[in-house]
Amino acid sequence: MITVGVAGKGGTGKTTVCALTIVALKRAGKRPLLAVDADPSSMLCEVLGVLAPPSLVSLVDEVGRSFDKLPQGMDKSRYLEYRIREAVSENRDFDVLLMGRTEGPGCYCYANHLLRDHLDRLEKNYQFVVIDNEAGLEHLSRRTTRQLDLLLLTTITSRTSLLSVERILEMVNDRNLDIRVGKVCLVVNEMAGNSLPSLAEKFSLPSFRLPVDREILTRSEKGQGLMDLPDDSPALVSIKDNLLPILNSLVN
Ligand SMILES: Nc1ncnc2c1ncn2[C@@H]1O[C@H](COP(=O)(O)OP(=O)(O)O)[C@@H](O)[C@H]1O
Ligand SMILES: [Mg+2]
Repeated sequence: MITVGVAGKGGTGKTTVCALTIVALKRAGKRPLLAVDADPSSMLCEVLGVLAPPSLVSLVDEVGRSFDKLPQGMDKSRYLEYRIREAVSENRDFDVLLMGRTEGPGCYCYANHLLRDHLDRLEKNYQFVVIDNEAGLEHLSRRTTRQLDLLLLTTITSRTSLLSVERILEMVNDRNLDIRVGKVCLVVNEMAGNSLPSLAEKFSLPSFRLPVDREILTRSEKGQGLMDLPDDSPALVSIKDNLLPILNSLVN
């Protein structure tokens, strides 16, 4: 299993990059694929053009509440595992998991603990797991698998989005948070201009550019998904040329 996480300031292209990564992996014949939407306000399902499954948070909430009412002898862990499988929406080319909002009405610590376990096991069934994060890496610090083989940091050419990158890198390097990241790569989204900002150089990270893609803009306005994006769509071409080789090198 190779885990790829995408983080960066809101509006810098995280969800777009996640969706394009799934499209590129699918077209390269890679499978099975899991897309994880870990951004409570994300639109990953819409951008992928699939129906959103029930979120894991709502499921854990519900299961946690019903633990008291389970028939005697019914194993709680088994029950949750069974319900989690229900939460994975299986599409033709990839599966989707929706994390959901974390602030629930109660804290079901036991259910949450079980969830982590099952989630770890579930993810191992996939060749690639692509995670759309909230702006920072907050959710990652809550995950058991605080491990990413590749972290993609999206940024536009603005100072504030580069500062977000800086903050995320600090989290990654903070030993107390115990986040383990194999490789980090900067994705410079050119949608707001294309002069590579000087701050980017200071990170001395590998980077690639994501060109402005009119087709993606149009589809976004119409609420259309990206799964059937033309092969020569510039942003998709960039993901294929720059990201797939990195992903392939991680597999080998
Ligand atoms: N390279 C690009 N070319 C054209 N439109 C883009 C590009 N990158 C992002 N967008 C558009 O910009 C908006 C924000 O992108 P999104 O991926 O949702 O950002 P985030 O997930 O970081 O908030 C979306 O409407 C998306 O379609
Ligand atoms: Mg998003």
